[in-house]
Amino acid sequence: MKLILLGPPGAGKGTQAKRLQDRYGVVQISTGDMLRAEVSAGSEVGLQAKAVMEAGQLVSDDILIRMLAGRIERADCAPGFILDGFPRTVPQAQALDAMLTSKSMQIDMVVELKVDDAALTDRIAGRYTCKACGAGYHDEFQKPVIAGVCDKCGGTAFVRRADDNRETVGARLAAYHAQTAPILPHYAAQGKLREVDGMADIDAVTVELTALLDTLVAA
Ligand code: AP5
Ligand code: MG
Ligand code: ZN
Repeated sequence: MKLILLGPPGAGKGTQAKRLQDRYGVVQISTGDMLRAEVSAGSEVGLQAKAVMEAGQLVSDDILIRMLAGRIERADCAPGFILDGFPRTVPQAQALDAMLTSKSMQIDMVVELKVDDAALTDRIAGRYTCKACGAGYHDEFQKPVIAGVCDKCGGTAFVRRADDNRETVGARLAAYHAQTAPILPHYAAQGKLREVDGMADIDAVTVELTALLDTLVAA
C-alpha cells in the first residue's frame, strides 16, 4: 500500500498515519519529523531548514525531493508507506511520480483530510508529544490516561514543536493554501483523490480511513 495523506497543518495526518501503519504493516514517512531530526542533529540540512520551519514556510523542493528519494529506497518501505507531509508542492508531486515510475511503482490512493481553518489553530496550540517515543497528545482532545505519563512508554517528559504557536500557524496555513492545495487537482486527474471528514473525532476519522483503505487491501 502506497498512500499519501494530505491536509493542512493540524489536520491529523500524523495522528492517523501512526494508527494506520500498525494496522496495515506499512511505515509512516513524515518529512516534518525527518526535518526536525536534522535540526536536532545540527546537520547541514537542519541548519538550512530551521529558520524556514520556524517561520512556517516550506523548505526547498531540492532538499525535500532528495530526502524522500533516499527514504523510500530503504528496506522497511518494501511493504508500502504512508506519506505524511510530502508532496507539498506541484514540483514535489511531479518528482514523486517520476521516482515511483522509474521503479515500476505508483501511489495507490491520496486522501485529503478536510478540516476548517478555524479548528486548526486550537489543535496545533494544544499539541505535545512524548519525548521518549514520539506518541502524540493534545491538552484537550487526546489526553494521556494518567496525567503527565505517556500511555505508550510510561515516559514523563513531553515536548512542544517550535512552530506550534498561534503566530506561525497563520503562515503555515497560508503556505498550505498557496503551495500545497494546488496538488489536489494533480491527483484528482489521476482518479486517486479521496476526501475524509477530518472534523470528526479521532476514532471516527480512523474508521472512515480504514473503510477506504480496506478496499485497497481487498483489491
Ligand atoms: P509537518 O511536520 O508536516 O507539519 P504540518 O503539515 O504543519 O502538519 P502538522 O504535523 O502540524 O499536523 P498533522 O496533520 O500531522 O496533525 P496532528 O496529527 O499532529 O511540517 C512542519 C514543517 O516542515 C513545515 O511547515 C515545513 O517548513 C517543513 N516541511 C515538512 N515537509 C515539507 C515538504 N514536503 N516540503 C517543504 N517543507 C516541508 O494533529 C494535531 C493535533 O490535533 C494533535 O494534538 C492531535 O492530538 C489533535 N487531533 C488530531 N486529529 C484530531 C481530531 N480528529 N479531533 C481533535 N483533535 C485532533
Ligand atoms: Mg504531523
Ligand atoms: Zn512515550
